[in-house]
Amino acid sequence: MKRLNTPVTASDMGALFLTANSVAKRPASIGSVRILPECSEKSVSKLNLDDIEEFSTSEFQHQRSMCRSKKSLLKTIVEEPQIRGNCSTDFLKWKELLLSMSPGMVMPEESRKADYDSLETQYQKGVKHLYDNGIEHVPRKYILPASERPNVVNERSRDATHHINLKLPIIDFSELQGPNRSQVLTSLASACENYGFFQLVNHGIPYEIISNMVDVSKRFFELPFSEREKYMSADMGSPVRYGTSYNQTNDGVFCWRDFLKLVCHPLPDLLPHWPSSPLDFRKLAVRYAKEVKFLFLMLVDAILESLGLMNKKKTTEKDEDKDEDEKKEILKEFEDGSQLMVMNCYPPCPQPDLTLGMPPHSDYGFLTLLLQDEVKGLQIQHKENWVTVEPIPGSFVVNVGDHLEIFSNGRYKSVLHRVLVNSMNYRISVASLHSLPFKSTVQPCPKLISETNPRRYMDTDFATFLDYIKSRDATKKSFLQSRKLTS
Ligand code: OGA
Ligand code: NI
Repeated sequence: MKRLNTPVTASDMGALFLTANSVAKRPASIGSVRILPECSEKSVSKLNLDDIEEFSTSEFQHQRSMCRSKKSLLKTIVEEPQIRGNCSTDFLKWKELLLSMSPGMVMPEESRKADYDSLETQYQKGVKHLYDNGIEHVPRKYILPASERPNVVNERSRDATHHINLKLPIIDFSELQGPNRSQVLTSLASACENYGFFQLVNHGIPYEIISNMVDVSKRFFELPFSEREKYMSADMGSPVRYGTSYNQTNDGVFCWRDFLKLVCHPLPDLLPHWPSSPLDFRKLAVRYAKEVKFLFLMLVDAILESLGLMNKKKTTEKDEDKDEDEKKEILKEFEDGSQLMVMNCYPPCPQPDLTLGMPPHSDYGFLTLLLQDEVKGLQIQHKENWVTVEPIPGSFVVNVGDHLEIFSNGRYKSVLHRVLVNSMNYRISVASLHSLPFKSTVQPCPKLISETNPRRYMDTDFATFLDYIKSRDATKKSFLQSRKLTS
């Protein structure tokens, strides 16, 4: 927590002079608190309880009775710079602070610092934990600056209502296997170039395997915190990692999401580390992981072909064989490639307009196959607008990752996406991120580079990426930007 250098006076606490006006839009039961005007020049350390006017409603008094003293609470609030800025939201923050202090956390001996540490500890436990404890307001830790909130409309998108109803391209996987393959490949190329996203239907994975995966993910997040906590780890390389937010160690503002990440390759080595509870977790997750991996490989095959790396109209048979061999080699590398499964849990959020389930980001990797349940939330950036991806039951949302953008030398785009939360429903999604083996170098495909289309990205690898995200904010497309050649 940052300390203020200059003594804080009571007048600095203007934010706490909450009149009937400033709380007018809040439920009447919330009440108000103020420092007596004649004491406004006193420094906070000299304030007495008598200088503070009583909390006005029974609810507020009840909350206060759980706390050590009004004064220590006021000090806590006044020394937190963010909380003093905006009068209209401060009241919520004030209340949130009270609400988030359970009696056990504010017993007499605890210092203000300990209060903060306790809050921080609560947040590290994730949003499911907060929600289960009956949080009524979004803690300030989760409140985005106004310009980054979900409902901000930029100048250029204000009139573009046609984008709001925009539908993502739909690729019918079964058609890819039939006589229309070449038309479907054209649609696939266009989707990857213009949207970076498409919905995949008729993919052949039995519905039962998919619904079981969503169901077991839900049941995992419903386990007691003590059980989920066993998988918490700060180690990015851990084969299993339970956590919250986007990057819990770096995020200034947290997002409204808990996750379980499972590294899936090589499965026999990793499976013993996966959660053993719920009892059928491993069985169902393994079945799903294998099916998705297979589907991914079929998609890569199609993507390589759509990039022209397997041109069927070669003049000689020899050329064709050579292409086929090269493609097989690339595919073989992907067979041995990395797979990371991310189960995301977005609990209902009391003020969904103030925060996000996931901030704008692009996915590391070649392709992501995302399963979303029937609750919408995923949005992709398309021509400066945020477009909601309507769930199609049983389908996959597939997106181009940073590695495919690099591999295609920029032809296919890894597109920014984010997740909105809502106040009514839990949302579950399962993302499967696939790429080359962790030890491989990712580079633009040599066959796609020419004098007219020079190399646009430098080589990269997994270690570089890990170093990058450990040290800074990896949202937006910042990692990919860092790999761009500028000349
Ligand atoms: C991801 C992701 C979207 C979603 O896990 O990288 O973008 O809808 N998920 O949960
Ligand atoms: Ni993503």
